[in-house]
Amino acid sequence: MTSFKQIRKLVNTNVLLVLVCASGFTTQAAIAASAEEQAQAAIDTRQGLLKVLVSYFGPIYGMAKDQIPYDAQVVKTNAEHIASLASMLPDVFRMDTTDYDGETEALDDIWDNSDDYTDKSLALVDRANALAAASAQNEGAAMKAFGAMGASCKACHDNYRQQQ
Ligand code: HEC
Repeated sequence: MTSFKQIRKLVNTNVLLVLVCASGFTTQAAIAASAEEQAQAAIDTRQGLLKVLVSYFGPIYGMAKDQIPYDAQVVKTNAEHIASLASMLPDVFRMDTTDYDGETEALDDIWDNSDDYTDKSLALVDRANALAAASAQNEGAAMKAFGAMGASCKACHDNYRQQQ
C-alpha cells in the first residue's frame, strides 16, 4: 500500500500543500510548512497556470495581428487548452494571500468577490469553447470569437489584476 510518506517523496511539499488547499481540505496538520511558504506556493501556482494559458493564447494573437499565418487546427487545439486551463482558475485562486508579501499582481478584491471571480473564469471557458467551435467555420468567424474571448480576459483584469 502506498503510504502518505511515499507520496510526499514524489511531490514537492509546497505543491502538495497547494493541492491539499485546492481540493478543499482545511487540515494542514500533516505537513509542517510555514504559512508564508504556502502563500508563496499558491502565488507561484496561479501565476504558472496563467503563464501556460498565455502560451496557448500567444499564437492565436499572432494570427490576429497577421504575424503568423492563420491555422484553424492550431486555433482549435489552443482554444480547447485555454478552456481547460481557465476552468482551473477558481481553484488556484482559492487561497487568500492578502496578508502575505509575495510578489503578485492579484488584487485583494478577488477574495471578497469569489463568486464573481468564478463567473469571470467560467466566462473565459465559454468564450474559449466558442472560439474552438468558430475555428471550424472560417478565419473571420474565428477572429471575431477570439476578440470576444480577449474581452473576457480584460473583464477580469479590469477588476482583479493591478493595472499594467
Ligand atoms: C478570472 C480572472 C482572470 C481571467 C479570466 C484572466 N486573467 Fe490573467 N490574470 C488574472 C490575475 C488575478 C492575474 C495576476 C496573478 C498574480 O500575479 O498572482 C493575472 C495575470 C496574468 C498574466 C501575468 C502572468 C504572470 O505572472 O506571468 C498574464 C500574461 C495574463 N494574466 C493574461 C491573461 C489572458 C491572455 C487571459 C485570457 C485568455 C487572462 N489572463 C484571463 C486574472 C485573470
